[in-house]
Amino acid sequence: MTVQPRDVGAAAGEPIVVNVGLGARAYDIVIGRGTLASLGARVAALKPGARAAIVTDENVSKQHLEATEAALASAGIGATSVTVRPGEGSKSIASFERVCDALIAARIERGDLVVALGGGVVGDLAGFAAASVRRGLDFVQVPTSLLAQVDSSVGGKTGINSRHGKNLIGAFYQPILVVADTALLDTLPAREFRAGYAEVAKYGLLGDAAFFAWLENNWQDVFAGGPAREHAIAVSCRMKAAIVARDERETGDRALLNLGHTFGHAFEAAAGFSDRLLHGEAIALGMVAAFGFCVRRKLIGPQEAERVTRHLAAVGLPTHLSEVKGGLPDVDRLMELMAQDKKVKRGKLTFILARGIGQAYVAPDIEAADVRAFLAERLAA
Ligand SMILES: NC(=O)c1ccc[n+]([C@@H]2O[C@H](COP(=O)([O-])OP(=O)(O)OC[C@H]3O[C@@H](n4cnc5c(N)ncnc54)[C@H](O)[C@@H]3O)[C@@H](O)[C@H]2O)c1
Ligand SMILES: [Zn+2]
Repeated sequence: MTVQPRDVGAAAGEPIVVNVGLGARAYDIVIGRGTLASLGARVAALKPGARAAIVTDENVSKQHLEATEAALASAGIGATSVTVRPGEGSKSIASFERVCDALIAARIERGDLVVALGGGVVGDLAGFAAASVRRGLDFVQVPTSLLAQVDSSVGGKTGINSRHGKNLIGAFYQPILVVADTALLDTLPAREFRAGYAEVAKYGLLGDAAFFAWLENNWQDVFAGGPAREHAIAVSCRMKAAIVARDERETGDRALLNLGHTFGHAFEAAAGFSDRLLHGEAIALGMVAAFGFCVRRKLIGPQEAERVTRHLAAVGLPTHLSEVKGGLPDVDRLMELMAQDKKVKRGKLTFILARGIGQAYVAPDIEAADVRAFLAERLAA
């Protein structure tokens, strides 16, 4: 069965626009192949007379900085740029200081603009610098990884890491525009694309069973590029935008986006946030674990959890804990890591569980002892 993507009906070549409905802070996500070329015109329409500072990393700058500068220049927007090292290490106080200093030295002021050109690392770092310099500069996200296009560039969480843990220093600060050019993903390493795909699958699993079924049938086209990729990114952004519009500061529903992340973060931390296990790979393992845990709690049947595993394995994501290079620590250490990430209150944890594919919900009082017993079984399997 081939399901027609809902967005392909839109005139070929026209971008798909998803609005994030946050009142006075609402903004558009413009999705499509080649949309980077329209960046200058879109920025000029929002902020006439602005100058821009582009924040990027070394990998992305080699591939896409020139085209970004040209897109801005075509609308008469002059730009300076600051380039950081690729990787999570750049979400540091030291890089934050460097980026802030560069913005100040370039005399970027309130009427101007910061452009975050890169993956989630650059988006989080540049967004936080934009939130901080002169008490807030407007910023635009130009996400270049799949993870950034479907997740980190949308919703306004910005920040850096502390020696005590990830994302502990930051701000909720929304961009004024997101331009997601799906062609930029052609230069993304295959492993990074696959890891980002775990977040795309997450949207189906948490809230849209029909989308998950569509992905099962069309994932090869999503990987290949073209309209299916744009559709998958648009559906993902629409769901994230709707959730963020309901609950910008994560007091309720936004937690649904953490499906697979309680287990996943523990695996990611156990592997030292390293090349051994990318974030999306950890989330694939985390979603398999979450659905397995739902079977244990008799919320779903085993066939449903097997369907999740089958799809993630089909795209080449890890689904079995033994696939983590260098192995995982024992259950005590994993529970410790989980407790660091999520507060355990009187032996209870908040988990995102599901009553089926596409039916996730927030479960606030899951017994840590049950999670522990489940993980111990999984590690032994
Ligand atoms: N703010 C949020 O809501 C949110 C949500 C999820 C994740 N995050 C954060 O996002 C970060 C992970 O983001 P990521 O997976 O994009 O990692 P990343 O930014 O490190 O990018 C992954 C790698 O791909 C390279 N790259 C990116 N785009 C490329 C392109 N088009 N061509 C070639 N190479 C390219 C980068 O240089 C890097 O080496 C984490 O720090 C995580 O905490 C934030
Ligand atoms: Zn994630």
